[in-house]
Amino acid sequence: MLKYILGIETSCDETAAAVLEKNNGRIKILSNIVASSANLQSIYGGIIPEQAAREQIKSIIPVIEESIKNSGLRVNEIDAIAVTQGPGLIGSLLVGVETAKTLSVVWNKPLIPVNHLLGHFYANWIDYGGPQQTIPSFPCIGLLVSGGHTDLVLFKNHGKYKYLGGTRDDAAGECFDKCARILGLPYPGGPEISRLARSGNPKSYHLPRPMIDSNDFDFSFSGLKTAVSTMVTHPPAPLSAGPDGGSLMTHHISNMCACIQQAIIDPLVKKTIKAAMSCGVKQVLVAGGVAANNKLMDDLKLESDLTRLKINVLCPPPHLCTDNAAMIASAAFFVGKEVVPEKLQANPNLSLVY
Ligand code: KG4
Ligand code: ZN
Repeated sequence: MLKYILGIETSCDETAAAVLEKNNGRIKILSNIVASSANLQSIYGGIIPEQAAREQIKSIIPVIEESIKNSGLRVNEIDAIAVTQGPGLIGSLLVGVETAKTLSVVWNKPLIPVNHLLGHFYANWIDYGGPQQTIPSFPCIGLLVSGGHTDLVLFKNHGKYKYLGGTRDDAAGECFDKCARILGLPYPGGPEISRLARSGNPKSYHLPRPMIDSNDFDFSFSGLKTAVSTMVTHPPAPLSAGPDGGSLMTHHISNMCACIQQAIIDPLVKKTIKAAMSCGVKQVLVAGGVAANNKLMDDLKLESDLTRLKINVLCPPPHLCTDNAAMIASAAFFVGKEVVPEKLQANPNLSLVY
């Protein structure tokens, strides 16, 4: 039985390491370190893969050292090493995978590869000490909304799930980031759009919601950035006025952000509830960076409450929604399978579809 797992995550522009403990079935974080190069990437308005990989190399050893130190454990007390195998940027993934392989051999510990996308869902199993935290139960619907993925799955048990659908083009987070870029806002755009949207009116402009009524569980977000581009270059008269006070330009941007956010949220909420209703499932797990969006969670909870099934929506706290290594270690406790270190290879194209 594994009790302590060191998790390592380097799929994109975060270098992360965490030590988790499993005790009486509960998963607790002993340490959770995340070093991000997002500030550096924001200078260029998005991620430059080569540069992200170089930053991973600089951070990986200090981040692992700090996570072990903060856990209060000695290396010989750690039972296994879990690492993100993919998907992600190959240069970034290689740094984590090769480091984990080396440590596994040198420290003589089992090595467990984890699919980053499944890892996001397993953030929901971490006992983060919330006052009324519900630990997930099966069956449940999983909605993954991250920078690279937007997927709906039906979880039947640990390691047993059915893929229901996903985006046919851009991911929800990618759409936030690209629309933010069109508006001249910094990277990553999701948190920035969500901040500005708070003082905006989501009904001020009409934006499309492609595939919202389609007879499947798929999404399409790429058309939204074209619509936003047109809205910026040929601004239509607002459908309704913004709040009083503040400059006209600030209102304008806030209103656009509120409209963009709502256009991304609406199809996510509609298809997630449709998935739960059609599978007869009473619980939804949300995961990935976009799950840190308060409006998405508020709308999803509101709509779920109104359903006949009274669907219960679970989501990790924001710092466990965005990329971290605690979720990787958590997944390893439940669905981890040990591999021979020398044989493990990073896989940038790993997916939830099998
Ligand atoms: O899961 P994540 O950290 O990395 C990937 O695996 O992709 O997700 C990053 C994405 C970015 O696109 C970022 O803009 C988005 O999550 N994001 C948000 C918020 N916080 C992060 N999107 C909307 N609202 C937020 N509050
Ligand atoms: Zn992620």
